Amino acid sequence: MHCSFSLSLPLILLLLSLPSSIPSVSTTNPHHANKQPPIKAPKPINTMAPSEAEALFKIMDSMSSDQNWRISHPNPCQPGSSWPGIECKVGNDNYLHVSRLDFGTPPNPTCKKTATFPSQIFALPYLQSVFFFNCFTHTKTTLSVPQNRASPASLQQLSLRSNPALVGPIPPQISTLKSLEILTLSQNRLTGPIPLEIFSLGSLVHLDLSYNMLTGTIPYQLGSLRNLQGLDLSYNMLTGAIPNTIGQLGLLQKFDFSSNSLTGGIPDGIEKLSLLVFMALSNNKLGGQFPKGLEKLQSLQYLILDGNPIHTPLPLEFGKLVKLQELRLADSGYSGTIPESFSQLKNLSTLSLQNNRLTGEIPVGFGSLSHIYHMNLSRNMLGGVVPFNSSFLKRLGRNLDLSGNPGLCLSPSEAHSLKIGVDVCGKNNNASSIQPWKKSQAPSGLSKPLFLFTALCVWGLHQMLFLV
Ligand SMILES: *[C@@H]1O[C@H](CO)[C@@H](O)[C@H](O)[C@H]1NC(C)=O
Ligand SMILES: *[C@@H]1O[C@H](CO)[C@@H](O)[C@H](O)[C@H]1NC(C)=O
Ligand SMILES: *[C@@H]1O[C@H](CO)[C@@H](O)[C@H](O)[C@H]1NC(C)=O
Ligand SMILES: *[C@@H]1O[C@H](CO)[C@@H](O)[C@H](O)[C@H]1NC(C)=O
Repeated sequence: MHCSFSLSLPLILLLLSLPSSIPSVSTTNPHHANKQPPIKAPKPINTMAPSEAEALFKIMDSMSSDQNWRISHPNPCQPGSSWPGIECKVGNDNYLHVSRLDFGTPPNPTCKKTATFPSQIFALPYLQSVFFFNCFTHTKTTLSVPQNRASPASLQQLSLRSNPALVGPIPPQISTLKSLEILTLSQNRLTGPIPLEIFSLGSLVHLDLSYNMLTGTIPYQLGSLRNLQGLDLSYNMLTGAIPNTIGQLGLLQKFDFSSNSLTGGIPDGIEKLSLLVFMALSNNKLGGQFPKGLEKLQSLQYLILDGNPIHTPLPLEFGKLVKLQELRLADSGYSGTIPESFSQLKNLSTLSLQNNRLTGEIPVGFGSLSHIYHMNLSRNMLGGVVPFNSSFLKRLGRNLDLSGNPGLCLSPSEAHSLKIGVDVCGKNNNASSIQPWKKSQAPSGLSKPLFLFTALCVWGLHQMLFLV
């Protein structure tokens, strides 16, 4: 104790940073150092096999003009080498091997304008991860995987993102990369169909092909990727139906098929995805066919379906997905009333129902959605008194949009609240506008012709129902 108080801070830091095998560090137990096991492994050669070094220099030649890598870093893997964007590890052969290549984001090497895809990477036997971000920007190049070379069984992550000059199809030879767990080919200009061979990569955990120009259908073989947790095919030109085999992806937590041209309904298989947290299908051509077991998706927090020609009433089952935080159902032709069951979604923070054909009143329970932050009910045919008190209106402010619902009105006591696109009840005493009334009041506020018309309709409905 006496000793440690007399040490200066820099000295303590120096002592702490020394490897524990250096005997002088130990002050508490002077015998500790003697118990260290002797170093068994033979000393690594600290060098790369010449053929692998040559492959690496060829890769650098085709990718980067930052410096002359052969001259500035003749031993790129050597400990202390300041070659950025590279990681090495010692192999069983005691040589150093490249295990990770990272290009395009500083401090990693940036890619030159004429960079083309270096298929030599597939000759690096210990390579585990590849990241090429914003690399192929001017010179058109394709993703080529050599067919008959033994490709590295080691590659676990291939991430080629934001490369506008990476064109052409995804090659079927991608299936030779048997250990791939993460395949990201997002934001390139890839064309053609999704090759079936991709679905033989049984180790895949994340597959992201978003923001390309892929065509054709989503193959039913998708169901064989049993380890998949994340699947993003959004922003492509995919057509046809969502395969029912998606239900076989029992570990799936997130899938995004937004902004394609998918048709049909949401397949029944979906209901088996009990771990699903995020599901996005917006801006497709999906029709209104929801699986009966939709409410089994009890992990779902994000349900994003806006911009589809659904044209049905809102499914009551949505109100049973109690973990929902975002529910987006805008621009989809939904009709009928908003189910009162939606008020059960206590964790909802965003509700988008704008631009549908919804009628009736806003469920009273919406006023007690305590997590809601953004609610858009604009451009429907909703009516009645807005069931929100002043603290609710104040909390949402401009994030509440009720405009374009001519039948809605705000109770005079909330009239001082921010503009939400709704008039105060009774202010606009105009025979041509629909006059909503408070629940406590009888329809005395109705003009006589409208009351007669309503009564006639009710009578007509009664006749229809009971005379059949
Ligand atoms: C709502 O969110 C809170 C906090 O994120 C969480 O603890 C709670 O379990 C959620 N409720 C439901 C019903 O999922
Ligand atoms: C507004 O409504 C909420 C939910 O019903 C309630 O908790 C809150 O006390 C009300 N606030 C006021 C000022 O009436
Ligand atoms: C609600 O939706 C409409 C129509 O899409 C949009 O124009 C408006 O900005 C949205 N309002 C809010 C507050 O997000
Ligand atoms: C009543 O409605 C008509 C048609 O919408 C409009 O032209 C007129 O200005 C309104 N009158 C009042 C007093 O708001």
